[in-house]
Amino acid sequence: MSDHQHSSEVGTTSSNAPGAELERFDDPGLPEHKSRMADRDPKAAKRAERQIVVLFAISVIGTIASLIVYFAVPPGETTASVRLSTLALGLGMAFALLGIGVGAVHWAKTLMSDHEHVDERHEQRSSEEVRAEAVKALTDGAQDSGIGRRGVLKGAVISALALFPLTIAVPLIGSVGGDWNVSKFRHTRWERGMRLAIDPSGRPIKAADVTIGSAVHVIPDVSEEERLSHAWITEKAKAVVLLVRLDPRELKEAEDRVGWSYDGIVAYSKICTHVGCPVALYEQQTHHLLCPCHQSTFDVADGAKVVFGPAKRPLPQLPITVDDEGYLIAQDDFDEPVGPSYWERLK
Ligand code: FES
Repeated sequence: MSDHQHSSEVGTTSSNAPGAELERFDDPGLPEHKSRMADRDPKAAKRAERQIVVLFAISVIGTIASLIVYFAVPPGETTASVRLSTLALGLGMAFALLGIGVGAVHWAKTLMSDHEHVDERHEQRSSEEVRAEAVKALTDGAQDSGIGRRGVLKGAVISALALFPLTIAVPLIGSVGGDWNVSKFRHTRWERGMRLAIDPSGRPIKAADVTIGSAVHVIPDVSEEERLSHAWITEKAKAVVLLVRLDPRELKEAEDRVGWSYDGIVAYSKICTHVGCPVALYEQQTHHLLCPCHQSTFDVADGAKVVFGPAKRPLPQLPITVDDEGYLIAQDDFDEPVGPSYWERLK
């Protein structure tokens, strides 16, 4: 029913006591309808139309800007360049979406039909007549929106809606078959003979300093000059390792990893293979290493295999030994990329 003067008697009680007498009052109906400025003044309607066009144009500019950024500002090698690229891409997409969202709301509030309509509840499934009416109402609504008459507005809406999906489609298409920068994680700063140093002090650590049950965060022992360089931030983030000492009798070493540990000391990448959080919670009794982000749990005594959680592969192991002075050193780099799993990884 479409008449908002409809009134009915609504019952309520003056007290919560059982049997209390009902007080009745009339449905007050809807407040008086006030017409909008754009309904009364053609100039105001024209002004609103221009504003909507500008908002959709902002969306188009945002889409074009994000596409330019995607090609012109690639993530690069440094953290700063990745941040800049992500920020610029995000801003472009934000304006593209914001233009469409605000434009649509402004259009609905200023130019679309302002008829008030009251409909009473009915059964869930509508009758065929009502369904036909709904289709007609939608058709009328499309006509009512005035999009057929307003050529520029129609062009702006279609342009914004048609172009926006490109902000998602182009990067997706561009990445098909690409390596998603996985190659950057194929190698870390670890190399044969490099000492393991305690993070953050940078002091090399001896095997004798690692007691059974302890867990130590270590990084490559690089020169002072390298430690102060900008590139070191990224290299350190990729190379960070957790060193754990177990009773050698509790250690299960895979055949192809015999000799990768030293007297019960094992070293594993700290970057979770789920989505890359730092794995840092070591439980001495169970030898389990827990990632705080989504609770992936790795068994340090058994090749850091996943025993629980969403991670799909073990933490990469750094093969270690000691040098002549008893300092722990890497035998080599990791033999697989550190960090989250990707579908194109072999391991
Ligand atoms: S990042 Fe470690 S469990 Fe998700």
